[in-house]
Formats: sequence, C-alpha cells, structure tokens
Amino acid sequence: MEFEGKVALITGAAHGFGEAIATQAAAQKMKLALLDQDQEALGQVVKKLKQSTDVLEIVADVTEEEQVYAAVDKTMAAYGQIDLLVNDAGVAVPGPIWELPTRDWEWILHADLMSQVYALRKVIPIMMKQENGGDILNVASAAGLLTAPGMPAYYATKFAVVGMTEAVAYDLQAVKQDKIRMHVFTPAFVQTNLMHSEEYRPDKYRDESDPYYQSESFKLGQKMAVDDLTAGLPIDSVGATIFDGLKNNDFYILTHKGIAPMAINRVKDAVEGRAPSLTKLMTYPDKTHTDTSL
Ligand SMILES: NC(=O)c1ccc[n+]([C@@H]2O[C@H](COP(=O)([O-])OP(=O)(O)OC[C@H]3O[C@@H](n4cnc5c(N)ncnc54)[C@H](O)[C@@H]3O)[C@@H](O)[C@H]2O)c1
Repeated sequence: MEFEGKVALITGAAHGFGEAIATQAAAQKMKLALLDQDQEALGQVVKKLKQSTDVLEIVADVTEEEQVYAAVDKTMAAYGQIDLLVNDAGVAVPGPIWELPTRDWEWILHADLMSQVYALRKVIPIMMKQENGGDILNVASAAGLLTAPGMPAYYATKFAVVGMTEAVAYDLQAVKQDKIRMHVFTPAFVQTNLMHSEEYRPDKYRDESDPYYQSESFKLGQKMAVDDLTAGLPIDSVGATIFDGLKNNDFYILTHKGIAPMAINRVKDAVEGRAPSLTKLMTYPDKTHTDTSL
C-alpha cells in the first residue's frame, strides 16, 4: 500500500496502539479520522497531529452501533474515501468466569469484537466500490493465538477477532475482492494505557453496587494487568512494525515472535486431543511474552 495522501480511519486513537498508528500514519502523510471515547486525550492527539496533516476528530463510543456508522459517514463526508481502517479500540477484562459478571462479557464483546463488526459492515462496501480497494487492520492479540489463565473473556474475544478476520479474508477472495487486504495485529504485552481499561467502561456496563468490583478477584485482575503491561515492550517501535507489515501486505502482524512455541504447541495439543495443562504452560520461559525474536 502507498500511504501518502490516503485516508485512515483509526479507532482507539487517544492512547496506546491507536495513537502510535495515528502518529505513524501522519508521518506517512496520510489524512486522518481519529475516533475515541476519551475526548480530552483524543483532543491532545488531534492537536499534535494537526501540525503535520488533516485530522478529523470523532468522539464516539464503539460499543454503540449507530455511533460507529456515523463515524464512517463523517469520514466519508470529510474525505470521500477510506483507504485504511484500523479497528483498534478495545479494553482488557480479567476475572474467572465463575465470578465475572455477565455485564463485563457484554462490555468486552461489544468493545473489542462487535465494534469491529460494525465498522467492517459499513467500510467493506465502501472499499468494494473504490478502485484501489483498501486495507483493514483488526487489532486482536497474542491472546487470539494462544491461551493462558486469568481472563477467559479476553481470550474469547481475541480468538473471535482472529477467526473473523481470517474468514473475512476468504470471503473477499471468494467474491474476487482481492483489492481489499485484511490484516490482523496480534501483539503480546506492550506498554500502553490498557491497564486503565476500567476508566473507559461505558455507564451502561457499570454497576458499582455489584460486590464483584470490591472482590479479591477483581483486585487481582487489575493488578495482573498492571504487572503484565508495565513489564511489556516499550511502544516506541510498534507504529513502524505495523506500517512495515501493511507495506509488505502481511496478513498477521506480530510484535513478539517468541510466542511461536506456545501457539504451535497449542494447535498440536488440539489436533492430538490433549487438554490445556497449566503445568506445561509454566515450563515456557518467562520471556515468552516479551521476546521479540523468533
Ligand atoms: N497493550 C498490550 O499489551 C496489548 C496486547 C495485545 C492486544 N492489545 C489490544 O490492543 C487494543 C488497543 O489497546 P492498547 O493496548 O493500545 O490500550 P489503550 O488503553 O492504551 O488504548 C485503547 C484505546 O481504546 C479506547 N476505547 C476503549 N473503549 C472504547 C469505546 N467503547 N469507544 C471508543 N474508544 C474506546 C480508549 O479510550 C483508548 O484510547 C485493544 O484491543 C487491546 O486488547 C493490547
């Protein structure tokens, strides 16, 4: 993909990967539509990037179908095309399934999966009509390629994003729409704002009277997110990694190739009928989640 002068619509652009991708896109002279629910932080990113390119600011909640559709309409009204869609907005929701309230499942399924469905439903038909098609990057996670304890809702959502993206790629090939290039980003731990997901929780998924949010499980989950992310890869190189992947038309874009043994052995266990084993999981080196080499 050639980037200069093209239009990128990026969700989750106020922090973390979304901000890094937006910054890299601006450096490549792309025009931007940046969406986030965090109005204040988004305003700062927009102000910074407006110094180098056109930026449309969209304050919206991606769990709201109509707000995602309206964001696509606003982008089309401003620029008349969408060449790169980045479905990045998302949250992390830890907690064991026997304690985690179903409202937390509703929240993560809508924030991390349905938000992408809404954008794909609206943007793919636009790209089908564009002579040059377009690129779509769905942000999933290494948690869409392997499993570990602590946050089944997160793994469920990320496996869904990986599977959906692969299936959409087949469907586009089947209807000879190869000009639309699908990509899925599957990073392991990177230092972002993700441990503060709780602050992004929309009111409709909030119930402070539920004792779960005072429980040890909840507190442990929050601590695990802080520990994992602060030990993660610094974000500085990630924007360039993603744009190299887009340029090479890589379907999978990874930050940590050191996850390979865990992902490969998971599939091996599956086809050979073996159950997940915590004992075996503990034998992988600690650095598996931080190793960027193969
Ligand atoms: N940081 C990591 O280690 C890591 C690893 C794998 C996958 N991911 C995934 O990357 C994606 C981005 O996360 P990040 O790590 O950059 O975290 P982040 O918290 O730094 O950024 C997420 C952004 O999404 C926005 N957002 C959240 N809910 C929203 C909503 N309902 N509507 C609109 N905007 C919303 C937030 O305001 C924030 O700006 C997530 O899907 C996350 O699961 C992160």
